[in-house]
Amino acid sequence: MSVLPIVEVPDARLRVLSAPVETVDDDIRRLIADMTDTMYAAKGIGLAAIQVGVAKRVVVIDLQEEEDEDGKPIRDPHAYVNPEVIEASDEVSAYNEGCLSIPEQYAEVTRPSRCRVRWLGEEGGVHEEDLDGLLSTCMQHEIDHCDGILFIDHVSRLKRDMLLKKLAKARKAA
Ligand code: NI
Repeated sequence: MSVLPIVEVPDARLRVLSAPVETVDDDIRRLIADMTDTMYAAKGIGLAAIQVGVAKRVVVIDLQEEEDEDGKPIRDPHAYVNPEVIEASDEVSAYNEGCLSIPEQYAEVTRPSRCRVRWLGEEGGVHEEDLDGLLSTCMQHEIDHCDGILFIDHVSRLKRDMLLKKLAKARKAA
């Protein structure tokens, strides 16, 4: 298992439509393991395969909302192959979203509060679940990545330009 470099804006790969996985095999499981390592190393809560340059519909998520007695986040990684939203609530909610491909930049994004998602697990079986809260938001954000969509596409052009300018400035300073 290894930590992979993360693709960042304005890399054109982030705009690619990722292909569905045909068979969940050992190569996919290795990809999932590497993505999980990469997500933890970058202190993220979710990662899509295209963010490590692989145009396949694979997502890993671990919200790490709970901490152990030393204040360290308790890890509980989940992998989602070919995840798709099959139903979304009319009710929406706003979260201050960030993205490992747009480092240190955040913006409020409004999405359906709840969604029903279907995916293949690491063992290849079909799963379906109703998601809400941060998991619902994070899943929609990661599925967007599989479709070449970034969270900054959900905000106004003004806000988007501002975020990208701030990012360029931060990179220059680094
Ligand atoms: Ni992201």
